[in-house]
This record gives sequence, structure tokens and C-alpha cells, in this order.
Amino acid sequence: MSGKPVCIADFEEYAKTFLPKSVYDYYRSGADDQETLADNVAAFSRWKLYPRVLRDVSVMDLSTTVLGQRVTVPVCVAATAMQRMAHPHGETATARACQAVGTGMMLSSWATSSIEEVAEAAPGGLRWLQLYVYKDRAVAESLVRRAERAGYKGIFVTVDTPYLGRRIADVRNKFQLPPHLRLKNFSSSDLAFSSGKDFGEDSGLAVYVAEAIDATISWEDIKWLRGLTSLPIVLKGILRADDAKEAVKIGVNGILVSNHGARQLDGVPATIDVLPEIVEAVEGKVEVFLDGGVRKGTDVLKALALGAKAVFIGRPVLWGLAYQGEEGAKEVLQMLKEEFRLAMALTGCRRVEEIGRTLIRRHRGLFSKI
Ligand SMILES: Cc1cc2nc3c(=O)[nH]c(=O)nc-3n(C[C@H](O)[C@H](O)[C@H](O)COP(=O)(O)O)c2cc1C
Repeated sequence: MSGKPVCIADFEEYAKTFLPKSVYDYYRSGADDQETLADNVAAFSRWKLYPRVLRDVSVMDLSTTVLGQRVTVPVCVAATAMQRMAHPHGETATARACQAVGTGMMLSSWATSSIEEVAEAAPGGLRWLQLYVYKDRAVAESLVRRAERAGYKGIFVTVDTPYLGRRIADVRNKFQLPPHLRLKNFSSSDLAFSSGKDFGEDSGLAVYVAEAIDATISWEDIKWLRGLTSLPIVLKGILRADDAKEAVKIGVNGILVSNHGARQLDGVPATIDVLPEIVEAVEGKVEVFLDGGVRKGTDVLKALALGAKAVFIGRPVLWGLAYQGEEGAKEVLQMLKEEFRLAMALTGCRRVEEIGRTLIRRHRGLFSKI
């Protein structure tokens, strides 16, 4: 990349040359053959926009609410683990960037900054905690309590990771945290994924998950969590209408349509393609969000036109952090915000509420029979 980044791909290009290979590989990779990784992005281009014209778009309002909290733009930050590998300030830089832009940040359970550090870094910011359900339920409960005390506004519980997906580059690199970092939310060195342990020939993180995360996780655990906290609960990683309906029945507050950035099961559909059936299934009873492959303002608009309340971005923030820490993450968010503003204006939408189903249709490939 020469000169300033002008699109999200420019940030990735910079990060690729700047980051150590094993870090870039960990951030970038999808599972197995990475079919879904490519499709998450490609699928957006199968949906076409049908703009309305002559609607005076000289004054615009991009704001909306997420779980009752106002955001200046419906683009929030998804949980990505271990952000201090991208920049020394890691998650605290992301939190400040989100606060500056006026949007929300989902903090990973596997952050390299603690729940409390992130809250202190951006006290006026909107934050949610992403929760992994640990075999030791006391660990999971303590994460929730700490989030409550530190003013987090919701829990996004990840439901697609009873085991870690197989990311081939991480296996080859025998991925581990660099020695100066650990998962800051945990005190024991095992739970903190400290380096130096022998993880054998596998990705260290895959071994960590098999040891610490509970593969017995079931709907009973969501009921347990519902009873544990009055914070809004969102299930992160739903791809089916029947699962979405079940979640609504249990009393969750939202669904995040996600395939974990294509890092868990390869061969699942792109999230934008399943969004409409999930939106239909929940019948407006809970908010529906989407992540996976959002790289442009038009992607955001397409997701909202198909019924998402907001979208979340994962990798683009990591590329922004690698580029210039807090400033870089802010630039990524601002860029998507301005691109979204233009997409709204060019489809004739002055307010987010005007983005609707009539703006979008799915186009099949030229030679496709289905
Ligand atoms: C490097 C990396 C780390 C991630 N860590 C977590 C995590 O700790 N917890 C989680 O629920 N999802 C995690 N995810 C998934 C993201 O929350 C999100 O679903 C995904 O990145 C969205 O896709 P995108 O990267 O194409 O925007 C991670 C994704 C990436 C790329």
C-alpha cells in the first residue's frame, strides 16, 4: 500500500506486511479450506440494491439503537481475541476508538486486556462482553459479574465453539501467544493461555479450548445464564431458523447471525444469505445482528435492508490496530461510517428506519439453474 488507506482492503495489505506471519495467519484464517471465508465476502455481491431517487438526501441521520443503547452508526466491533498482538494497546485502543466514533465494542473473553482495564480506558463508551462458557461454571459466572460491575451493557454468548475449528495455518505455526502477553481476564497461567506450555503438534489455542471450554454446552446453559443476569443476552453464532426460535423461547434479547468469521465449521453459508430466514423466524421479537465479511458501506446497508438492526466487524479492526493503534481502528470505523452514509444517500435513505426490504434483491449467477 502506498499512501493513506482508502478502503478496508488497504488496511489489511498494510497489516500483512507489518505483522509477524503467525499473528497475521491467526487473524486472517478461516477453518479448513476456507470456503466460507471467501463466501462471507463474495455473498454480498449476489445481493443487488434498488435505489430510490429524488428524495432530498442533503441531511442524514445514521444513528440507531442496539439493545436499547444509542450508537451513531449501526456498525459495531465484534469480539476478536488477543488484540495486543496487533498493537501494544490492543483492546484499550479499540475501546477508545469506539468511544470516539460513538459505537459499541464487544470484548472477547480472550482479550489481552482485562474487563476492567477496557472499561477504564473508555469510561463513556458502550461495551458488551463476549462470553465463552468454561467447564468451571464459576469462571463463566465471575466474567459475567465483573462485566456487570464494570458497566457492560450486555453479554454475547458464543454458541458455535464447543471445540475450536481447525485452522490449518495455526496448526502449522503451532500458534501460541507471544511470551509478553496473556489472556488478562484470568489469573491461573493455564486459563491465561500463557506461552511456554507444550501444546504438542497442534494449534495451542485448539488445545486450550479442548481443555477449558465446555463441549457439553446446551440450551440448559443458556437458561442458566438467563437466570444469572438481568443484562441483555445475545446468542452469537446462530445460522438456523429453528435455533433462533428456540433462543427467543428461552428469553434471549438478540441473535447475532454469525459463522465466527468462517473460523469454526467450513462449508456453512455466508451470513448474509441466512439473515433473511432468521429475521423471519424471530418475528420481530428480538433484535437480529450480523457479522462476517462486512467490508464496505454497501455491505452494511444490505444487511440492514435484510432486517439486521446493526452489523459487527471483526478483522477490519485488527488491521486498523496494526496500522496505527487507536487512530487506525478509528479510521476503519470512520471509513465504514462515511461509506455507509454515501450508500444510504445513494439509495435515497435519510434515516436508518427508511432502509427496508424493497431496496434489495438476490441475483442468481448468470449460469445458475437454481
Ligand atoms: C482473530 C479473530 C479472533 C476472534 N476471536 C473471537 C472470540 O474470542 N470470541 C468470539 O466469539 N468470536 C471471535 N471471533 C469471531 C468474531 O467475533 C466475528 O464473528 C468475526 O470476526 C466476524 O467476521 P469478520 O472478521 O469477517 O468481520 C474472532 C475472529 C477473528 C478474526
